[in-house]
Formats: sequence, structure tokens, C-alpha cells
Amino acid sequence: MTTTAAPWTVAVLGPGGVGGLCAGLLARAGHRVICLARAQTAAVLNERGLTVRSGVFGDFTARVEADTELREPVDALLVTPKETGLRAALDRVPREALGEGLVVPLLNGFEHVDVLRERYPAEQVVPGTIRVESTRVAPGVIEHGGLNARVELASSTAPHARVERFAAVLRESGQHVDVLPDETAMLWGKLSFLLPVALLTTRYGVPVGEVRTAHRDRMLAVVGEFAEVSAAQGAPLDVPALLTFIDKVPAETRSSMQRDAAAGRPLELDAIGGALLRAAARHGVEVPRTAGLVAEVAEVGAPGALDG
Ligand SMILES: NC(=O)c1ccc[n+]([C@@H]2O[C@H](COP(=O)([O-])OP(=O)(O)OC[C@H]3O[C@@H](n4cnc5c(N)ncnc54)[C@H](OP(=O)(O)O)[C@@H]3O)[C@@H](O)[C@H]2O)c1
Repeated sequence: MTTTAAPWTVAVLGPGGVGGLCAGLLARAGHRVICLARAQTAAVLNERGLTVRSGVFGDFTARVEADTELREPVDALLVTPKETGLRAALDRVPREALGEGLVVPLLNGFEHVDVLRERYPAEQVVPGTIRVESTRVAPGVIEHGGLNARVELASSTAPHARVERFAAVLRESGQHVDVLPDETAMLWGKLSFLLPVALLTTRYGVPVGEVRTAHRDRMLAVVGEFAEVSAAQGAPLDVPALLTFIDKVPAETRSSMQRDAAAGRPLELDAIGGALLRAAARHGVEVPRTAGLVAEVAEVGAPGALDG
């Protein structure tokens, strides 16, 4: 698969499950990809390239460049560490090296967008979301399961035409990409599903099917509180549509937060639950059920997990 557009130079900060998949697809499509990674990971990528194993995109290895720091201007920078490693990773991208490149974060949550707009020119920041199941099984080796990746892009600060041009580049690499009109609605829409599902599957250590039956009252309470905060934030939520969506998710589905908890990795709890509590406080919305759940998940993520 090669691109019909002029090749772009795209840097990918944090070539893990999400970033590695995007990097591999872009490189395969003929773009120049510079992965920004820790020294050990960068060495592996320079030596062996990026290997993607996917039922949708096929199995392939793409040549990429890798470095520990951005040293030249790029057309776009994909920002794909987890929130827990975001600030340390961003130190690899000095403002002056970036040039006029777009900055496109694909993290879950929403507070990282302000962090990026503080570090880089606001008119270059294009928030995105991605729906995908992709795992970095070893440095430079990415396993993509499930369906095609679905990316959404929306920016209240970047010129629309630039966002569309980047969307076309991603689309040509094989991903499904939509450009949406409302950044807040996009980010909160993704969070509206993620927050109840991630927190409740992690809290109880059960798949989605059991959350929506055994813990339905709690799920409804959290969704209700989320809807109040989301509306106050300017992103009214269609609650019946969200519940219908959650009810259709395959019963055995587990969340990545739950997998992180099981593996003893840091949780993105602050970016998801913590951010919601802070937004609620800013808007004067009471969210006691969500606050209780966030505290319980913090216990699960820490030594001395709760029982049951
Ligand atoms: N994975 C999914 O299917 C999926 C789906 C939707 C949304 N998301 C969201 O996407 C974001 C990324 O998740 P992910 O699953 O792709 O995470 P991940 O597999 O852990 O990848 C994160 C990458 O960031 C790198 N990194 C961390 N700190 C770094 C630093 N200081 N300098 C350079 N690189 C650094 C890691 O490097 P090493 O490889 O060297 O450890 C890793 O490759 C999260 O916000 C997640 O919620 C993920």
C-alpha cells in the first residue's frame, strides 16, 4: 500500500500499542516516520523496524527511523504515550524543534489537551480519539486485534483544512478517520463509554457483561453523574444511546485499565476518573457515586486491593 499524496514526515512519540500501529501503517504507506522513544526501544526500532501483526492490516515489518528526541521539524507529531508517562515523554519534543507541525494526541481523557496547548502553539494542536485494540507485546512488535482502527479528529484551534489533510494521510494508511466539528463533544463522547466501563470492570475484576447485569445500578448512577458533568462542560450526552451501546458490547469484553491492573502496571485512573472529578468540582456538580468508585479503583491499582 503506497500513498498518492506527497509523503509526510510524521513523528510518533511513544510507539506502543496505538502509536506503533499508526507508525507502522504510515511507514508502510510510504511516509517518513520518526519514532521518538526511550533509548532501548529506539535502538530496537532502528535495527529491526516496526512489526505489526493484524488480522485486518496483515502481518508486516516497516522500516522507521527512531530517536530519543525530536531534532528537526515534522509535518505532524502523533502523541501516544499513556497519560502516566506523558510529561516525561513530551520532554523529547522541544517546542523549537517541532516547527509548524500538527500535534495530534490520541490518548484517552481530555486534560492532556491543555498540557499540549501550554507547550506548543494552540493552532497546531488537533485532539484525536482512537477506538482500537492494539498491544505492544515487545519493543517494536505490535499486535492488533478486533476491528479496524477508528480515529476521530477535531480541533477548536487548528485550521480545518490542515486537519482534513492529516485525516486524508491517516485514512490512506488504512485507518477509518472522521473529522468532527466539536472537540469537546468528541473527547467527552469517547470518555462517556470508557469511564463507566473501565472503572467498573477494574473495580470488580469482571468483564462488561457482568458489570451491566450484576452492577447495573451502580453503572446507571455513574452514567447519570457523568451526563450532568458532560452537559455542564458543553457536551450534552445522549444517555439512552450510550446505554444501548454499552449493552451491545460483547459480554466477555475487558477494559485495558483492567488488564493494566491485572499486570500491575500504572492505571490511567487520574486521566479518566480524576479528570471527571475535577471537572465536576469546577462546574459545582455533585458526583458522590463516581468519587466513591474512583477511590475504590485506586485501591485496586495499589497494593492491598479491595475484596470482592
Ligand atoms: N492500546 C489500545 O488499544 C488503546 C485504544 C484506545 C485508546 N488507547 C489510549 O492510547 C494511549 C496509549 O495507550 P497504549 O495502549 O498505546 O500504551 P502503550 O502500549 O503502553 O504505549 C505507550 C508507549 O509510550 C512509550 N513511552 C512511555 N513513556 C515514555 C517516555 N518517557 N519516552 C518515550 N516513550 C515513552 C512506551 O515506551 P516503551 O515501549 O519503551 O515502554 C510505549 O511504547 C492511552 O491513553 C490509551 O488509553 C489505547
